[in-house]
Amino acid sequence: MEVILAEHLGFCYGVKRAIEIARQNASSDGSSSTLGPIIHNPQMVERLKNEGVGTVGSLEEMDDGLIIIRSHGVGPKVYEEAESRGLELVDATCPHVKKAQLSAKLLSEEGYTVVIVGEKNHPEVKSIFEWTAQDAYIIETEAEANALPRIGKLGIVSQTTFSGDRFRSIVSCLLEKSREIKILRTICTATDLRQAAALDLAEKVDVMLVIGGKNSANTTRLAQLCATKCKTYHIETVEELQDDWIKDVNKIGITAGASTPDWIIKEVYKQCQSRA
Ligand code: F3S
Repeated sequence: MEVILAEHLGFCYGVKRAIEIARQNASSDGSSSTLGPIIHNPQMVERLKNEGVGTVGSLEEMDDGLIIIRSHGVGPKVYEEAESRGLELVDATCPHVKKAQLSAKLLSEEGYTVVIVGEKNHPEVKSIFEWTAQDAYIIETEAEANALPRIGKLGIVSQTTFSGDRFRSIVSCLLEKSREIKILRTICTATDLRQAAALDLAEKVDVMLVIGGKNSANTTRLAQLCATKCKTYHIETVEELQDDWIKDVNKIGITAGASTPDWIIKEVYKQCQSRA
């Protein structure tokens, strides 16, 4: 049995950077926290907690101390509220997310009605929305695109982790909606690279293991893509790996979302190899 890792997998630049920033701002007295889990990976969140970086759900939970903005970013009101509460703020928003936020803001300021192509409940998408004039649409499917009214000036941005192919398909529906359209394709290359490498590998193997948080949008998307090519299992940790999945299999492929720590990928890889 052969175990093959995807050419691009695991932590992306923005996540590595956010974790580094969090670690640099750890404190032993519990005064440093991230606003929401630093990444969509419970194991990493637990590890950081032990290193002195906690998590709060909202700024109301903090009367003092240091708040770290995670890679998904936040809207302008959070910066204002942190300041008014006298909190120290460290911004670990991924620069690509910042670019998407500022693109949406700019389009709004130029009089475009913004359409954000992405998942409505994803924190990054919510943060991009907050930077618009708040009359933006968030759409996730071709059907939602078709259902939009005609728009005078239409500005399009995307969630950074959105599938490139789906973005193209949704944008083609939006082309009908306005005479003046500005498209800012704010998908980051980390996502494209991981998706292309995962698909490439899924075509060559019998089974794909996709590792990452069950609440991680980009990991879930990798699993969906791989499932179009071969039998695919989405697992968070090595403990979930079942023997029957990889028994009598010639080739196993492994990929991992942008928020999956290296140590978890290694554990799964070793476990598969030990069965080879
Ligand atoms: Fe940033 Fe792209 Fe990662 S937007 S957080 S580098 S997936």
